[in-house]
Order: sequence, then C-alpha cells, then structure tokens
Amino acid sequence: MIELRHLYKTYQTRQGPYEALKDINLTIEDGDIHGIIGVSGAGKSTLVRCINLLERPTSGNLLVDSEDVTYYRGRSLLGLRAKIGMVFQDFSLFAQRTALANVTFPLEIRHDPKKQSHQRGMELLELVGLADKAQNYPSQLSGGQQQRIAIARALANKPRYLLCDEATSALDSLTTDSILELLQSINRELGVTILVITHEMKVIQTVCNKVAVIDGAQIVESGSTASVFDRPQQEITKRLLGQVMAEAAAKAAAEAVAKASTSAGLAKEGHSSPTSETNNIDA
Ligand SMILES: Nc1ncnc2c1ncn2[C@@H]1O[C@H](COP(=O)(O)OP(=O)(O)O)[C@@H](O)[C@H]1O
Ligand SMILES: [Mg+2]
Repeated sequence: MIELRHLYKTYQTRQGPYEALKDINLTIEDGDIHGIIGVSGAGKSTLVRCINLLERPTSGNLLVDSEDVTYYRGRSLLGLRAKIGMVFQDFSLFAQRTALANVTFPLEIRHDPKKQSHQRGMELLELVGLADKAQNYPSQLSGGQQQRIAIARALANKPRYLLCDEATSALDSLTTDSILELLQSINRELGVTILVITHEMKVIQTVCNKVAVIDGAQIVESGSTASVFDRPQQEITKRLLGQVMAEAAAKAAAEAVAKASTSAGLAKEGHSSPTSETNNIDA
C-alpha cells in the first residue's frame, strides 16, 4: 500500500515559490490499478516523482507498506526504488543498447551474474511478447514495442508497484489498447499494484478500478471508477468525461454512416453474395 498524507510540493522558481501539490491525501491499495487523471500542468508528474522520491515532498508524508519513507536516503532509498518500477511517455530507452540490454540494465547495476541476467531478461521479453526482438535497437522497434521493452525493464527488479506516467500518450488508439491489456495482465498475473497517470479518461475507463482527479495541484474528486463515471461531482471531471462521451458519439456516428452506406451499396448492387466477398479477401 502507498499512502500520501498531507503532501505538499513547492518549487522555488525565479518568479517565487510555486505550489505544484497541495495537501494531497491518497491511498493506493495493493492489487489496484489506480488512476490519476488531470489536464496538463495539474501536477500529475510531480505527484509520481514524489512517490519514488525523485522529488522530495516539501512537507507531508509518504508511506510505503506502512513505513514512513519520506526521508529515506542512501541504501534505504535504493531499496525503496527497487520496489517501485517507472514507465514514461517517451519510453526513455537507451538508444545504444539492444532491447535485451535495456531490460537487463537494472540487473547489471545490481551486479547480478551475466548468465542469470540474460535468462531473466529473456523471461521478461517473453512476458511482454518480444523475445524475438531481443537484439533489436530501440530505433528498430515501433512505439508500442519500445513501451513494452520499457515495461519489461521496469519489472526487472520484481517491483511491487509500477508507476506509469502517461505511458500510452505517445501511442495510437489500438497500440494504447494493447499496452493497457499488458498492464492488466501484469496486475493480475504478477500481482503488481499499478498507478496509471493520464490525461485520457478512456485509459482510466479501460483499466482502472479506482481514480483520483487532480486539478490545480489538488485532488478534487476520488473513488471507484464506476462511481466517478456515474456521478461526477466536479466541473473538471465532467469536462474530462466529455472526451469519452464525444469519442463514443463520434464512433457511433461513424458506425451508423458505415452501416448506412453498406446497406445503400447492397441495395444498389442487388444482392452481393457472401462468397464474392470471400473471393475478394482471397484475391
Ligand atoms: N522543476 C520544476 N520547477 C518549477 N516548476 C515546476 C517544476 N516541475 C513542474 N513544475 C510546474 O508544476 C506544475 C505541475 O507540473 P507537472 O507535475 O509536470 O504537471 P502534469 O504532469 O500534470 O502536466 C506545472 O505548472 C509546472 O510548470
Ligand atoms: Mg506530466
């Protein structure tokens, strides 16, 4: 379980102090796929960086597995980071390393024996469905494949938690779906608790059982995804939900147009038999 208690983060900027997080209270329970949604600049990335202590909170507390880790340093900080995997929007792979060498990088740092790392690396590539791409460099992989490699690398240390900061935001809709399926299977089969940070309500709707809405550095609404979808309380939530409704309406309209033109086409041609269609596919 990850708990944030009255957490604040203030950046010192040339224009003066800037509060990027204000009084954040959040519990991420074991086994959940917990979403955090908000528009650009809301404070989402600051929030994840405070969870793995890439940023130190200005005040408040961070508890991981009931232990206050807010001031962890040195060895205990490394231990904490090993428990928490990270995935980013831009994949952040090493361009000069093969897919396999990217995945085994955390094991190399740990000085695991070469043979053992190689074996574990291949297992992880297998898990994300890319064992056949082990020797490819990132530039020789699609965006979705690169994100799979990044996910495999994030799992190398067998973390209990996986934090995904806009992990699907650089991907098209079908690739997004396949990455979300992978996250779901990692959650289900490896028991990894996942935090999904996104600006897309569709992502929340697809994989998250709980969600918190962040706006202007504060959490303004939270609960089970179903309850937030059914009864959004805040204007910002309704606006974010509007994306999903608009997309669903556009899809329904496109399907209706396609259906209408198909039936119009059929009427014009007389009855086109199913066999002629099959022949077309074979041709
Ligand atoms: N290192 C920093 N120094 C100063 N301001 C920052 C820093 N990092 C982020 N911010 C500001 O904090 C706010 C929240 O940023 P961020 O957490 O990246 O938002 P999000 O990920 O939701 O888009 C933004 O206004 C951003 O400009
Ligand atoms: Mg961000």
